[in-house]
Amino acid sequence: MTTTFSFFGVTTGSSAIRRIFPRWMSELGIDSELVGLDFPVGAPPADYRAAVARIKADPLAVGGLITTHKLNVLAAARDLFDGLDDAATLLKETSCLHKDGERLLGAALDDRTSLLGLDAAVGADYWDDERELVVLGAGGASIALTLGLHRAAQAGRAIPARVAVTARSEARLDEMRELHERIGFAAPVEYLVAESPVAADRVVAAATPGAVIVNATGMGKDRPGSPVSARAPYPRESVLWDMNYRGELHFLADARERARPDLRIVDGWDYFVYSWTKVVAVVYGIDIPASGALFDRLSELARTA
Ligand SMILES: NC(=O)c1ccc[n+]([C@@H]2O[C@H](COP(=O)([O-])OP(=O)(O)OC[C@H]3O[C@@H](n4cnc5c(N)ncnc54)[C@H](OP(=O)(O)O)[C@@H]3O)[C@@H](O)[C@H]2O)c1
Repeated sequence: MTTTFSFFGVTTGSSAIRRIFPRWMSELGIDSELVGLDFPVGAPPADYRAAVARIKADPLAVGGLITTHKLNVLAAARDLFDGLDDAATLLKETSCLHKDGERLLGAALDDRTSLLGLDAAVGADYWDDERELVVLGAGGASIALTLGLHRAAQAGRAIPARVAVTARSEARLDEMRELHERIGFAAPVEYLVAESPVAADRVVAAATPGAVIVNATGMGKDRPGSPVSARAPYPRESVLWDMNYRGELHFLADARERARPDLRIVDGWDYFVYSWTKVVAVVYGIDIPASGALFDRLSELARTA
């Protein structure tokens, strides 16, 4: 019997995964199909709850992946879950639904997958005692990235010398600060309200040469525009990483137009492939290491889909 894998998003029909997923299933020898579930940003809690309840009750529904709605889904349906992993509890979000028999489990995997995405952009050994990380936006993906860096530091890896995080309002910054205090995050962090591109430009201008500047606002995909101005004063040799690979991607397009050879410009494709392969591995109970022949094959199938 064909099982179903649910994909919670905003415009799931436009995601490359619709073409990629069937190829991956065939490569992995799994009889399962992707079901897209579109919700507007901030949909009514009852809608998220109903979707989770349906998955829990359906023996052919094996779980799924949640993008934009990961905080809201967990908030709306917490009591339907029979277990959560550490990161889901810490981050109060679930990006992965999976099952153990009839038990519905929730996992948050972005701490690991976003770090893999960052490593793919600059290399795990990029950080020294000067290079900084600027994260524009303080949503789930930004918080998860800092949790990933925290775990990397605990494992003895170098992490950015300093982190600056921006948001348009204090609330998300407070939440992030609270998490960082709770886990004892090793890097010094500045939490900065930047309500406009001009304000974000000032944050970017203050970073050290070689800083990695991440667009984690969703601007350029979920919302129009870019968090910084078209002439943002990037420090020399900055690396600009957009967490998204699709949409207008103004943040990257503006930087490309500048034709500054010292800037490195990276989109969210690798992050996308890491996110999906990790969730597929957990849902179907298989091992897909983040490097090696199987990962390369899946990545190539994704690229050509
Ligand atoms: N490649 C992948 O596989 C992958 C995986 C995960 C996430 N992503 C992408 O990464 C993006 C972020 O994900 P998320 O889950 O963190 O989304 P999110 O929870 O919506 O977070 C975006 C955050 O950015 C803030 N923001 C919006 N405009 C801003 C601006 N101009 N300046 C500063 N902050 C701003 C928002 O807060 P305020 O509105 O309060 O400012 C919000 O907290 C999304 O577009 C998502 O698609 C990609």
